[in-house]
Amino acid sequence: MRVWTHILVLTLPVTLAAASKTSPSAKNVTFAKDVAPILQKNCQGCHRPGQIGPMPLLTYSDARPWAKAIKEAVVLKRMPPWFADPAHGKWSNDVSLAQKDVDTLAAWADSGAKEGNPKDLPKPVAFAEGWLLGKPDVELGLTKGFEVPASGTIDYQYIKVPTGFTEDKWVQALEFRPGDPKVVHHLVLFLREPGSPFMARLEPGVPMPAPNSAPRRQVADDGVGRIESTNGPEILGTYTPGGSWQRFEPGQAKLVKAGSDLVFQMHYTATGKVTLDRSRVGLTFAKESPKERIKTVFISNRKLLIPAGAANHRVDARVTLPMDATVTGLFPHMHVRGKAFEYNVTYPDGRTETLLKVPNYEFNWQLSYYPAQPIRLPKGTQIECTAWYDNSPNKKGNPDATVDVRWGDQSWEEMLAGFLDVAMPVAPGATVSTGGGK
Ligand code: HEC
Repeated sequence: MRVWTHILVLTLPVTLAAASKTSPSAKNVTFAKDVAPILQKNCQGCHRPGQIGPMPLLTYSDARPWAKAIKEAVVLKRMPPWFADPAHGKWSNDVSLAQKDVDTLAAWADSGAKEGNPKDLPKPVAFAEGWLLGKPDVELGLTKGFEVPASGTIDYQYIKVPTGFTEDKWVQALEFRPGDPKVVHHLVLFLREPGSPFMARLEPGVPMPAPNSAPRRQVADDGVGRIESTNGPEILGTYTPGGSWQRFEPGQAKLVKAGSDLVFQMHYTATGKVTLDRSRVGLTFAKESPKERIKTVFISNRKLLIPAGAANHRVDARVTLPMDATVTGLFPHMHVRGKAFEYNVTYPDGRTETLLKVPNYEFNWQLSYYPAQPIRLPKGTQIECTAWYDNSPNKKGNPDATVDVRWGDQSWEEMLAGFLDVAMPVAPGATVSTGGGK
C-alpha cells in the first residue's frame, strides 16, 4: 500500500515538470501549489529569520521579489549549497535539488511568479528547536562568547576550549549549535592532544586570528603528493548551515584522548549588527567499544606554486595507499583562489574511478561529502587529488592577482588538501565499554 502511494506522489511532479517546458501548463505554476513546498523542503532551513540565508523565503511576499534570483541560483546550482557533480558518487548528505524542482522554480519565475490560490498553500513548517540528535553526553563551547563586529570581513578565529576529560573518550556522534546561526558561516572543530605544539600559545577562550602551522606525520610521500596525518590537530567535525551534525556508523567512533583541547575555527559573516556568538558542540559517546576508529588524514602537495594572474592553474597531488582504507568522508579544501577539485583513484587492477568532482568550488562553503556507502580502497590504490586555481583579477575575493601564491595556512596563501575520513581497526582489548580506555 505504502509503496504505491509513494510512487504515485513521485510520478506526479515529474509529469508536471516535463510538461512545463512545452505546454501552457508552465503558466499554471503557482507559489501556493508548486513553489512553496519546494522552498519548505530545500530552502527555509536557512532562509528564515534568524538563520544564515540573507532573506527569508517563507511567504509569497518574501519570495516574489526574488523570483529571478531564485531561478538563477538554482539553475546555476549555487543553491542549495551543494557542489558535487551528480555524475560521480552518491552522498548521504546530498541536499541538491531534483531537476524537476529546478524546472518548476524556473517556470514559476518565467511565467510571472504568480501567487495562485492561498488555499493550495502547504502548512508552514514547524522547525525543530534544540538538539536534533537528542541531548548529548557533554556540551562544550565558547562560554565567554566571541563578539562578531557589525561589518567587514572577519578573519578566521581560533578559540581553544579544554575538554577537561580525565580519560580517553570515544565520540560516536557530534552536533553543533551555532550561538547565532545568522553569523556562523562555518566552523571546523580541531582536536588538540595534550602537549601538541598546535595552537600551543592559545589561551582558553581567548580568540586568535592567525593560525600557526603544526607538525604533521607523513603516512606516505610519493614526491607528487603525500598523505599527512596530524600529531595533534585532528579534525573532529565540521559545521555548515544545514549540516550541523555527524553520526558515525555503529561500531565506529572518533577518539578524544584524556586532557585534549577542542579548538574551534570560526568563520563569521558580518550582518550589520554586533552580536555575541556562543557556538557549542554536543558530544555523544559510544556505548560500546568501537571496532573502528575514524581518523582524518589529508592528501597534499605543498610544492604548489600558482603564478600571478593565472586563471586556470592545475596542481596534482598523487599518492599510493600504503594500507587498505575504508573511506567514510571526503572534504576538499582550498582557499579563496580555489576553483575546482577532484578525487580520482586508480585501483591496483588498473581500473579508474572518480570519487568526487567539485566543478565549481566555493571557498565560502566548506562542505564535507559523506559517501552513501563506505568507499573501500585496497592497499596499492593510487589516489590523485587535482585542484584548479584562479589567480586572475576576475576571481571574486582574490586578494592580489599580481603575486605568485604558495602553500600556507593564511587565506591569502593556498592549500591543496584532500581530506579523507578513514575507518581503521581498533586493536582488540584496546578499549573499555564506557567510551574510555586507551
Ligand atoms: C545551507 C543554507 C542555505 C540553503 C539550504 C539555501 N540557501 Fe540560499 N543562501 C544561503 C546563504 C548563506 C546565501 C548568501 C550567499 C552565500 O553565502 O553563498 C544564500 C543566497 C541565496 C540567494 C542569492 C541572494 C542574493 O543576494 O543574490 C538566493 C536567490 C538563494 N539563496 C535562494 C535559495 C533557494 C531557492 C534555496 C532552496 C532551493 C536556497 N537558497 C537554499 C544559504 C542557504
